[in-house]
Amino acid sequence: MNQHSSLSMEDLDRLTRSTFLREVRYHSRLASTSTYALELLSVERQVTCPSLIYAEEQTTGRGRGSNRWWSNRGGLTFSLVLEISPSGLTTEQTPLVSLLSGLSVMKACQTELPRADFSVKWPNDVYLSHRKLAGILVEIPPGRADVLVIGIGINVNNSFRDAPPEIRDTAISLTEVGGREYDSLSLLERLLVSLEELLSQLARGENVIEKNWPPHCLLTGKQTTLKSGPHLVTGLCLGIDARGALRLRTPRGEERFFGGTVESWSNGQGT
Ligand code: BTN
Repeated sequence: MNQHSSLSMEDLDRLTRSTFLREVRYHSRLASTSTYALELLSVERQVTCPSLIYAEEQTTGRGRGSNRWWSNRGGLTFSLVLEISPSGLTTEQTPLVSLLSGLSVMKACQTELPRADFSVKWPNDVYLSHRKLAGILVEIPPGRADVLVIGIGINVNNSFRDAPPEIRDTAISLTEVGGREYDSLSLLERLLVSLEELLSQLARGENVIEKNWPPHCLLTGKQTTLKSGPHLVTGLCLGIDARGALRLRTPRGEERFFGGTVESWSNGQGT
C-alpha cells in the first residue's frame, strides 16, 4: 500500500489467493465500476466469477434509483460479479444476497472500530453513528438472472470537507470517527471472507438473516416511511423477515415489502 492508501494491482491480486475471488480487474479511473461490469457481461458472456472490478477513482458513481455516489480520494469503490448457482443458492435467494452484502461490509468495518455504533439500513446501506458509511447497489445484468453485480462504495479514508453540501452532514467515513488511516486491502479481504461465509450458511439452509440482522437493524422500532412504487407507506418497523422483507405495522395491519426506498425514519423525536 502506498502513503495515500491507494491499492495497486499487486495488492489486489493477493485477494485471489486469500478469498473466494477468482479474478481481479484493477482500473485507476472508471466512470463506474458497476457500469463497466455490466458492459463487460454484455460483450464477454463468460466472465470469470467471482470477480472484482476495482477503481482507484470513480468519476460518475451510481447509486440506487437516480442517485449518484460521490467519492473522493481514500474511498473504496468496487463491484463484485457473482454467479448465484455455483454458490449453491437459488435465484429466489437473490434479495438475501443483497442484504448479506451489507452485513459483510458492516462486519468488516466493525473489526476496525469494535466499539463504534454501526447499523444496517434495509435493504443494504451501512450506517456509522447514524450517518451513511457505505452504499450498495445490486443489479442483475439483462438476460443473466444467475449473475449479480454488487457495487459497493465504502467511505474509508476519505473526508467530506469538499463534498457536495447535501451529503456533507449525512455521510461519514471510518477515518473521521477513528481519527486514523485504515488499511483498505485488509478491510476488503475481511469483507469478502465474511460474505463467502454468510453465503455458504445461506446455501446450507441456515436462517442467516434472522440470526445476524436484528441486533444491527437501524429501522426496528422506528416510524418508517417507504416509497413503494408510486405510494408512500408509513408504519412502525418490526424488523425484517427470513426472506428479507421489511415488516411495517401500518393502520391496515402488518405489511411486508420486498422492494422500495426508505424515505425517512424517526423515533418520535426527529430522524
Ligand atoms: C447507494 O447508496 O444508493 C448505492 C451506492 C453504490 C455505490 C457503488 S461505488 C461502486 C459501484 N459503482 C457504482 O457506480 N456504484 C457502486
